[in-house]
Amino acid sequence: MPPTMAGAERWKRDPIRYLMFALIASFFVWYYNFSQSAQRLLPDINPRSVLQPEPGRLHIVVTGGAGFIGSHAAMVLTQAGHAVTVLDNLSRGNAGALRTLRDMTPARRFRFLRVDLGERGAVCAALQRVRPRPDLVMHFAAVAYVGESMRDPLQYYKNVTVNTVNVLDCMAAAGIKQLVYSSTCAVYGNPESLPVTEATPPKPINPYGQSKLMAEEVIRWYARSQPDFKSIILRYFNVYGSDPAGRLGEYPRPELRAQARISGACMDAALGLVPSLTVKGTKHPTKDGTCVRDYIHVMDLISAHVAGMGRLANPPPLYNIGTGRGVSVKEFVDACKKVTGRNIQVIYQEEARPGDYAEVWSDVAKINNELGWRANYTDIEEGLRHAWNWRLEHPDGY
Ligand SMILES: NC(=O)c1ccc[n+]([C@@H]2O[C@H](COP(=O)([O-])OP(=O)(O)OC[C@H]3O[C@@H](n4cnc5c(N)ncnc54)[C@H](O)[C@@H]3O)[C@@H](O)[C@H]2O)c1
Repeated sequence: MPPTMAGAERWKRDPIRYLMFALIASFFVWYYNFSQSAQRLLPDINPRSVLQPEPGRLHIVVTGGAGFIGSHAAMVLTQAGHAVTVLDNLSRGNAGALRTLRDMTPARRFRFLRVDLGERGAVCAALQRVRPRPDLVMHFAAVAYVGESMRDPLQYYKNVTVNTVNVLDCMAAAGIKQLVYSSTCAVYGNPESLPVTEATPPKPINPYGQSKLMAEEVIRWYARSQPDFKSIILRYFNVYGSDPAGRLGEYPRPELRAQARISGACMDAALGLVPSLTVKGTKHPTKDGTCVRDYIHVMDLISAHVAGMGRLANPPPLYNIGTGRGVSVKEFVDACKKVTGRNIQVIYQEEARPGDYAEVWSDVAKINNELGWRANYTDIEEGLRHAWNWRLEHPDGY
């Protein structure tokens, strides 16, 4: 028998090797279940407390408050004296962000209820039960990956459009009449001219953008039928950065790494959690062939929400939230490499990601003029430094 065949025969007969293989496999199964249950096991926080905003402040329901943007919103709102009830099903986002919020906030100002917005009965029960009656809902919860929406469009129409119907329906049942809605520049698709104004015709080219546009339409029609309902629709460009004080950050959970947005993916590569960073699409008709985006710092985004809360109206006003400046993905990655100081292996792949548009950046004149809001963090390296500092302190996430 040739030596390799003999080796293979010995391997097959050796029970110790089978045992080791089984042990290693069970470790991975255990680790997967452990990391999943860390999200699932978080109990509701202050489920029955009567929350107490500071005088003159509101009780605000934040859907998706375990996520990147929703957690930063909950932090800013509670620090301004508002009381916040987070509704989240922890399908994405991080239980650790909620623990951080709980620990930094007076007990009567923060609550978390684990609720899936797809379960209308549970959403209505939560909105009707919480005390005091909420004044306003900030609706962030969604699934939000372009590529995933191309592969699984129904998930997007359900979780983005149908769940917005559920939220409105339950707001009506609970007598809540104010809404701030998270929309996206993905509704514009590949615009014919730049920068994108609020009057640019929306022409989404992926189910994510389409499902958000449909949710916007649901809100507009609902508002027509309810004269005392007030809302605002905010279309965000590409959100990055994190709390400059380092309390919260952006941590896409490991199972979402394959879809990760450029900032998270770059930090994952810098930390060695993935071997390289792949940039998809190098033949776009842009300055360097990669996509061009308008990167808005998460703290600026939230300050726009705070400004917007004072301007709710019927019909809902619409604002773009961006910086007014286009930055290519290559420029963003170069800045990320510089900030992390790590030797990140970047693989530039010619084939574009399905559903991606070449370039968008916003015209921010309307929000500047009408809300007096403008972005403060316009230096990409500074914003990336906030994100990187948090990731360095939390290499394994929350
Ligand atoms: N991140 C961006 O660049 C960006 C850009 C434009 C618009 N947006 C919008 O901002 C919002 C927040 O995005 P993010 O980046 O924080 O995403 P995220 O995935 O970090 O947070 C979303 C949160 O919603 C929760 N959620 C999802 N489905 C739910 C359901 N059915 N019931 C209850 N909770 C549910 C998740 O568990 C998660 O905590 C989304 O509406 C997204 O479309 C984000």
